[in-house]
Amino acid sequence: MYQSVLGLTLPSFEASESFSTVGPGLEGRIGEGGHRIVYQYGNLAIKVNKPEVVARVRSHKVVLPSWVYSLYRNGFRDFNSAELYNYRSIQALLPDELSDLFMQVYGLAENNGTTISICELLCDYDSKVSKNLQDNGSVLDPKFWERFNQLEQFFILNRIPFFDLKPRNIVVKRVTESTNIPVISDYDQLGHYPYAMQLNFLPDSILRKRINIRFASIIDKYKVKTPSEISQAHSPLQNP
Ligand SMILES: Nc1ncnc2c1ncn2[C@@H]1O[C@H](COP(=O)(O)OP(=O)(O)O)[C@@H](O)[C@H]1O
Ligand SMILES: [Mg+2]
Repeated sequence: MYQSVLGLTLPSFEASESFSTVGPGLEGRIGEGGHRIVYQYGNLAIKVNKPEVVARVRSHKVVLPSWVYSLYRNGFRDFNSAELYNYRSIQALLPDELSDLFMQVYGLAENNGTTISICELLCDYDSKVSKNLQDNGSVLDPKFWERFNQLEQFFILNRIPFFDLKPRNIVVKRVTESTNIPVISDYDQLGHYPYAMQLNFLPDSILRKRINIRFASIIDKYKVKTPSEISQAHSPLQNP
């Protein structure tokens, strides 16, 4: 039986055996990142830590036990605990009008000595599981990019260096046939916690620049530009 930990009340979540037995019976695997495998379970997304992860040490790739790498990167023995910690600290800062841009993390459950993370399942208006930005590809909807800018301002204002801002950690949620919003779907390496000692001492201008570079690279790759944006980009006045 799953037990809630960290004093969280979990949504109704029944499982009578260990996750390894129940796992394949879940409604399918909906995603995989470097650290976790994600399953659908009703209207929940369940994230399971991988036992081993590939880490980069200098320019070498090494396979490490997941808990070793998580402890080194996050100060937590597993990615799901780091995610919950980071999510809660973000939630405490989050204005209501941005709450739809962040996947909800309901809590952790225990599974054979490690944790599983129980999250909101990100779905489109037609109930299909939403795709991440990398699988979705370029986005035209200008509203999506307006909301993306709001995300950037939030991270800058709150001095949150988003180390893991990459297209596979942003979900494109189709709220209507023609409208999309970006939703952050991975917090395991996001927040004040990682590298806090380094970045808390940085002046605002440098921190802003670092966050801006990360957002700009996503915009550059995935935003479908309007003709006027294309001509502006090529205007000599813009690049004196
Ligand atoms: N709540 C969710 N709803 C739907 N899909 C999700 C959800 N969370 C993650 N995913 C999918 O699973 C993939 C891997 O999840 P992620 O949390 O980024 O794992 P990791 O921590 O290993 O990087 C994501 O790229 C995304 O496509
Ligand atoms: Mg990820």
